[in-house]
Amino acid sequence: MYYAGLAAAGSVLRAGSMQRPQSPSEPLLDIRSLPKFVDPLPIPERAKPVGLRPQRGNPKSKIPHYRIAMRQFEMQVHRDVKPTVFWGYDNSFPGPTFDVRGGEGLTVEWINQLPQHHLFPIDHSLHGAEADKPQVRTVVHLHGGRVGPESDGYPENWFAPGQSATHFYPNKQDAATLFYHDHAMGITRLNTAAGLMGIYIIRDDGEDALNLPRRPYEIPLMICDRSFRQNGQIYYPVSGQPDKPWVSEYYGGGILVNGKLFPYLDVEPRKYRFRVVNGSNGSFYLLALAADLSFTSPTQPFFQIGADQGLLPAPAKLDQLILGPGERTDLLIDFAQWSGQQLYLRTSVATILQFRVAANKSSVNSPDLPAVLRPVERIPETAAAKTRELTINDCQDRLGHSKMMLLNNMHWSMPITEKPVLNSTEIWSFVNLTDDSHPIHLHLVRFQILDRRPFDIATYQLTGKIVFTGPAQPLAANELGWKDTVRIDPLAVTRIIAKFESFTGRYVWHCHVLEHEDNEMMRPYEVIPA
Ligand code: C2O
Ligand code: CU
Ligand code: CU
Repeated sequence: MYYAGLAAAGSVLRAGSMQRPQSPSEPLLDIRSLPKFVDPLPIPERAKPVGLRPQRGNPKSKIPHYRIAMRQFEMQVHRDVKPTVFWGYDNSFPGPTFDVRGGEGLTVEWINQLPQHHLFPIDHSLHGAEADKPQVRTVVHLHGGRVGPESDGYPENWFAPGQSATHFYPNKQDAATLFYHDHAMGITRLNTAAGLMGIYIIRDDGEDALNLPRRPYEIPLMICDRSFRQNGQIYYPVSGQPDKPWVSEYYGGGILVNGKLFPYLDVEPRKYRFRVVNGSNGSFYLLALAADLSFTSPTQPFFQIGADQGLLPAPAKLDQLILGPGERTDLLIDFAQWSGQQLYLRTSVATILQFRVAANKSSVNSPDLPAVLRPVERIPETAAAKTRELTINDCQDRLGHSKMMLLNNMHWSMPITEKPVLNSTEIWSFVNLTDDSHPIHLHLVRFQILDRRPFDIATYQLTGKIVFTGPAQPLAANELGWKDTVRIDPLAVTRIIAKFESFTGRYVWHCHVLEHEDNEMMRPYEVIPA
């Protein structure tokens, strides 16, 4: 299996299918030479409401109202690196963490106070990013949120510096780790590379009753990779074609955890919960826990307790897991046997976070991990009113370089073809005709993965018929929960099943490799009234 970007952060990229970036005109910061574990892991501040506001359509009830400004600011990603210019929500990267209760709605006024010029070169040949549009445009999407279409951050609903938009988030959904990020048409990859992302946690009574570790033993981790110039500024590559600077993937030379390179975290010898978000533009990570810095020693087991859309039915004991762009994983790590020692969170090529385990724990006890978390009733395939077969396409030039990526061979601007009926259930069957993994995300809904099954790609290309070459691969225990982003591997047909409930209106589905999304690998879809 191939995971584009799985070996990111300084290692070899798969040539052939990608538009190779031009080599930078200056030497970049050598991230590997930086001293490791000299900065404490930052924990983002909690977002605070500015007051109460009458709810739209229900003026008698008052709900919390937040105002969050996007601004340019400077921050050090490492003790020995000069301050980096970021764009962030409330002057922070990651932005402030929302921490809310299921069923309790809120409104946010998202305010664009960014400068008029972008940090990175814009490709005006991409749809929605034409030269007649303002350079700096933003629109905020709550990834994983069950949100009405007017508040979902439709990519074309962008607003320029000096403007704002107020969104209503009902939070009527199960406890889960969501995240918010920019979604402006044609420049999402650049806005998020600049830092426009933050974590959004929904809690509920069912989850509270499980007695899982809570603050300060519950810690959000936003992981994403970036390259830097020697002056400390973020480096985003260009193709070398001045009028078409788009590159097909961005893999950074270093991995930031909550905005720091190689941070450390002081922990007690007890259980911790880590809510991990992969906020990278294109990197998949194989995450593991190790007792030292060598990559040859065995990894240490940990538990995954939740996925994108909340708790798994039962904890899954794992040695490693793959987390693609846009995916979240909820981990439980017990440091009890490690008192006085160190543990490390690493990917397949880089150690990214050090845990320094204290000799003793404070008096607080850490309760046992429950054997059962939350029932996730499997949706039977027979519930599906419709099955859609959708291809994943990479359009290459004569040299084999990607020009654009498509979903079902259609461009963003073509008429809407996916129109599920409200409250109906559908199976979406993704036929990957590329050689890479693509993390496919649907707005509005949560879904379950049905299976991945190998098929004969040559036969498909000739005849359009799926001929399976083997049985479906059984899903791993950590893929049995509710998802909103799914890894579509090459050489396989991946099927998901979803019920299109709660709202009618126009949403999007897309690849969460943001370079792909910005270059046609995104389609509108519409939930239509029954
Ligand atoms: Cu996380 Cu449509 O995005
Ligand atoms: Cu989303
Ligand atoms: Cu993709």
